[in-house]
Amino acid sequence: MSDRDPRELVGSAPATEEKVLEAALRPKSLEDFVGQTTVRGQLSLVLESSRLREAASDHVLLSGPPGLGKTTLAMIIAAEMNAHLRITSGPAIQHAGDLAAILSSLTEGEVLFIDEIHRMSRPAEEMLYMAMEDFRVDIIVGKGAGATSIPLELPPFTLVGATTRAGLLPGPLRDRFGFTGHLEYYSAEELERVLRRSAGMLDIRVDDAGFAEIATRSRGTPRIANRLLRRVRDWALVHGVAVVDSGAAGEALDTYEVDRRGLDRLDRAVLEALCVKFRGGPVGLSTLAILVGEETETVETVAEPYLVREGLLARTPRGRIATDDAWRHLGLHPPDSAQSGRIPGDAPSGPWNGRDS
Ligand SMILES: Nc1ncnc2c1ncn2[C@@H]1O[C@H](COP(=O)(O)OP(=O)(O)OP(=O)(O)O)[C@@H](O)[C@H]1O
Ligand SMILES: [Mg+2]
Repeated sequence: MSDRDPRELVGSAPATEEKVLEAALRPKSLEDFVGQTTVRGQLSLVLESSRLREAASDHVLLSGPPGLGKTTLAMIIAAEMNAHLRITSGPAIQHAGDLAAILSSLTEGEVLFIDEIHRMSRPAEEMLYMAMEDFRVDIIVGKGAGATSIPLELPPFTLVGATTRAGLLPGPLRDRFGFTGHLEYYSAEELERVLRRSAGMLDIRVDDAGFAEIATRSRGTPRIANRLLRRVRDWALVHGVAVVDSGAAGEALDTYEVDRRGLDRLDRAVLEALCVKFRGGPVGLSTLAILVGEETETVETVAEPYLVREGLLARTPRGRIATDDAWRHLGLHPPDSAQSGRIPGDAPSGPWNGRDS
């Protein structure tokens, strides 16, 4: 088992000290927000209409994988509506009373952001239904037979919920959002724009080909792009490189073991175990985890989703298999499918849908 976090570089969750830097790099307006054209367009209509009506906007749900800009968009929504933003998260609301305290202190037009909203407790969730729909909550006072409920009117507010697991949200909660925006992975060209912006703010000099090189290794995720940019900056500083070109960016990221497709040491170890030790699979997840010296959960939630999304690995009822593309990525020849017991043909690539098979 490695003693350092294997996802330091290409994991999509932010490290603690990274959060401060992220705050500095966050775009502050819809205009500065790169990519996500569909969601951005829809959201700007929703916000414009609320401005014209001079009323609080409909509740907004933002879903999508980590690091794609949900928190950033929530902050932009408040800023665009000139509204005060209140931030909390699902895990912080364990009792209905926690939520009641927040709701009862809201002022008119405020934006309440609940991050990881799928992790809220059941009773709190039920209180939220009524608050969202009728702008009212019932506060329970006292206990047992003497308990009474006191209805409390709430001022109109806008709830913005964010979730990485939209599928875990109960239907009644999902239905109460007037608008749901699903964030998609970013294209290389969009990531280049994110990088350009960040490099400008951090005063890092990179040329066009250098940006392209970092972008293709960023797993479609702005958070990772910004992180790789900082590592490239370190490398350039130490090596006395004034302007990072594609060669320098590539060398820097090779040093950090992030390859041309954004795969890191663990991702490659998984593919190697599959291809070299098991001739492409199928192999059970726990065997795979033992072979690469990681927890089963790390392999399943951290390495696998990206490998599946890239069309390098497929999940089948019999276990994990490497696709022909995986062999080629490792510089190996895909074996003849008849000999190896593999399921022939590449796995469907397409975006990973976040669900377990
Ligand atoms: N569209 C974008 N344009 C420019 N930068 C972006 C964009 N989206 C995200 N970023 C950058 O990526 C970082 C991570 O974004 P953010 O914190 O909003 O992700 P998230 O979806 O809330 O992730 P999580 O699910 O982990 O909470 C931000 O600091 C921001 O700098
Ligand atoms: Mg967030």
